Amino acid sequence: MIRDCERHAGKGVLVTGGASGIGLGIVERFLGEGASVAVLDLASIDKPEAAGRFLSLVGDATDEATVDVAVAETAARFGGLDVMVCNAGVIAVGPVIDMPLSEWQRVVGINVDSVFLGSRAAARQMIAQGRGGAIINAASGAGRRGVPNLSHYCASKAAIIMLTQSLAVELAPHRIRANTYVPGHIETPFWGGIASGFARVTGKTPDEVIEGFRATVPWGRFGTPDDVAATVSWLASDEAEYVSGQAIAMNGAEFPY
Ligand SMILES: NC(=O)c1ccc[n+]([C@@H]2O[C@H](COP(=O)([O-])OP(=O)(O)OC[C@H]3O[C@@H](n4cnc5c(N)ncnc54)[C@H](O)[C@@H]3O)[C@@H](O)[C@H]2O)c1
Repeated sequence: MIRDCERHAGKGVLVTGGASGIGLGIVERFLGEGASVAVLDLASIDKPEAAGRFLSLVGDATDEATVDVAVAETAARFGGLDVMVCNAGVIAVGPVIDMPLSEWQRVVGINVDSVFLGSRAAARQMIAQGRGGAIINAASGAGRRGVPNLSHYCASKAAIIMLTQSLAVELAPHRIRANTYVPGHIETPFWGGIASGFARVTGKTPDEVIEGFRATVPWGRFGTPDDVAATVSWLASDEAEYVSGQAIAMNGAEFPY
């Protein structure tokens, strides 16, 4: 793992869904590169090695007041908010014809509302600070192509890409950049639900489901959270100063690129 330990020194970062998987990888990357990091997640985590530079906020990233308070607390504790990572998300598996409206609304609501609320709160804070910033949102390869049994998830991730492109244009005058990261298959606890869900609708075992997804990756393996975090860190850095409105994939050469 290559790290520039000073890259984000002095910056304040907030990561939603940072207690697990990709979000946790992003938290560890930013801490390792000098930033102060807050996490808003349903679960709490501890980072004793980063005392004074870490804050765990327990709450729901789809609740308006909770998100606004999390942004305010991060800025107050760390001298401002420079990077917002809207990473929290959920997935579920099932065919459209059997899908209750409530299940559609649950998946789309959590994924899209959390990005809208996090981006909005961060933009307001960054505009008030007057020193620009970076908003980086979690999309998915499933937001660029249809996947059977993932219609709600695909629709939610496509919406996040378009929301973020719109933010990039609206916020450019304030020198706030907005981009999405587009992971392929990344080994996290997320895959427990995917494997059991596809096992239910296909009759395969969860192991067969996982192997089937792995076999679609030309690079031959699932990605790691740090494969994603490395790009998120770069997107947040000054080196990416002219990069905004983009959706950048890390997927081992899997289609779509
Ligand atoms: N793992 C993959 O292969 C993959 C691929 C493409 C995109 N993604 C996206 O990356 C993001 C992270 O996925 P992951 O694999 O790390 O998942 P994960 O399940 O390991 O972690 C998700 C985290 O989000 C938190 N969370 C969920 N709902 C929340 C809410 N309402 N408020 C606050 N926190 C909430 C959970 O508590 C958990 O800590 C998601 O947006 C997901 O859609 C993942």
